[in-house]
Amino acid sequence: MPGNCGCNTCAGASPCELNRDVCQLKELVRSQGKQLGQLVRHMKMGCKKPPKESTLKGLSPCLKCLQPDVLYHLGMDTATMDFPKVFGDVRFVCMGGTAERMERFAYKIMKELSLKLNPATTLRNMAEPGHRYALYKVGPVLCVSHGMGCPSISILLHELIKMLHHAKCQDPVFIRIGTCGGIGIEPGTVVISSEALDGMLNPYYELIVQGKVVLYSSKLDQCLANELLSLAIPCEDEFCTIIGKTICTNDFYEGQTRLDGAFCDYTNQSKTAYLQSVQCQGVVNFDMESTAFAALTNRASIRSAIVSLCIVNRMEGDQILSPPECLSEWEKRPQVLVARYIRKEFLKRDDDSDTEVYDEVCPSACLEGDKAI
Ligand code: URA
Repeated sequence: MPGNCGCNTCAGASPCELNRDVCQLKELVRSQGKQLGQLVRHMKMGCKKPPKESTLKGLSPCLKCLQPDVLYHLGMDTATMDFPKVFGDVRFVCMGGTAERMERFAYKIMKELSLKLNPATTLRNMAEPGHRYALYKVGPVLCVSHGMGCPSISILLHELIKMLHHAKCQDPVFIRIGTCGGIGIEPGTVVISSEALDGMLNPYYELIVQGKVVLYSSKLDQCLANELLSLAIPCEDEFCTIIGKTICTNDFYEGQTRLDGAFCDYTNQSKTAYLQSVQCQGVVNFDMESTAFAALTNRASIRSAIVSLCIVNRMEGDQILSPPECLSEWEKRPQVLVARYIRKEFLKRDDDSDTEVYDEVCPSACLEGDKAI
């Protein structure tokens, strides 16, 4: 006699037994899919050997003595995690201020690269044990939150660069997707930084090391900046994309000549004069991370770029008055541009890739409720 579903197989089986059988079948299909993916990947790679070391340059000679190396703020270490296995395929590191924004970006990238996620699973914050930053891995893309200011992004960059070094990563590209205060540009505009300047308009990141001032170049990769600009489609995009110099400050209020901070020892006139003078020198925006981001990626010979969303025109005011609905809609704009770049590069490097290849990358997404990383 057939069972409830009408088939002879489940005749007489209890719901519990059926459930167990379904689970076993699902597991079987999943593990076969994984094996198939590995086979296809091996066939594609042929006899290509995994790289012996990362392409990152200029790193500390002390790193090889760190056994294990503890990436304290990311809550990871080389003793309990196989970095080459988990992060060896990383090619793009996208960074932004908040954890929520970077999680949303991770889902966007997953869609862009046609990666699939079991509906019962969510992406996992791999840096959760560190209680500082959020880090999501979607195939070859890391989406990481960096907090506010140079000290915060600098700590993260030290640990991310070490992570990619231990993982033997090849030619990763770093992109900061941030927000900024525009100088003479409309809120909602996307700004690509051509140069990251300090408050004195010099292209340096200043650090005091052993009681001495050390200056590191904060030049950005011009080719990458122009390439990102070329991906804007002015007649299709609902936003403007521009390129210009960025001033990086250590303070949101007085450092960016605001009148609305708790303290202010200057006038509205001197503020306007200052903004006009930097505008005349090609500066289009303020942020708080660009010099550290550019300097640390430069030191490791990593190509990097900054794509920001302007959330206020400082020529017109200091407070962020755009409604939250607008801000959350605009948040997608720099992401659109960066996703186009990643997609283009991803297809280029994998030459004859198609959707099947993206599916293979799926096991390297780090998922909640799933053992796959
Ligand atoms: N980020 C900044 O650094 N300044 C602004 O005005 C807005 C965002």
